[in-house]
Amino acid sequence: MKDQTKTFVFDTDSAELVEKHIAKYPDGQKASAVMPLLDIAQRQCGGWLPREAMDHIAGLLDMAPIRVYEVVSFYEMYHDKPRGKHELRVCTTTPCWLRGSTEILMACEKELGCKVGETSEDGIFTLSEFECLGACVNAPIIWVDDDYYEDLDPENTRKLIQALRKGEKPEPGTTVQRHKSAPAGGLTTLTGSGG
Ligand code: FES
Repeated sequence: MKDQTKTFVFDTDSAELVEKHIAKYPDGQKASAVMPLLDIAQRQCGGWLPREAMDHIAGLLDMAPIRVYEVVSFYEMYHDKPRGKHELRVCTTTPCWLRGSTEILMACEKELGCKVGETSEDGIFTLSEFECLGACVNAPIIWVDDDYYEDLDPENTRKLIQALRKGEKPEPGTTVQRHKSAPAGGLTTLTGSGG
């Protein structure tokens, strides 16, 4: 039987990070580093975790491989199958839904030519539906890779996808004129001198 632990190794940059994470935990508690190590491996492997990578991490942390597979299958941020280059996660929980997430999702499906849970034919995007992303005040939101794009509508959603497809990286955050999560159009309270 093929020894899968021999077919994945962390590259130099990843190995440096791996060491830092493992060093945070005392002897006998190395397994606590499993989540960051999986994240590092997933990034190195282009967005998913081959079995070989999970087995390698299990070996590094003295864990039974099944314990690592359990972590991967429990958390949505890990993937055990290849994904598109970009993950588009559309929040459809109530505040985003009230602010138009259904139309955002429809715009994504139309622009990408695929449904939720699928990867676009060009292999660039995987589309998912997510529960509250914790940024409701700027709803509706799409979480793309490591960034949030906020205050979306179907038109700027299409533009976002087109830019990503061209290899561009639009500025993350709000897409309307507001400072972070401050009210659009400027302050509505605490506007006086307070005197
Ligand atoms: S409901 Fe979408 S971020 Fe909270």
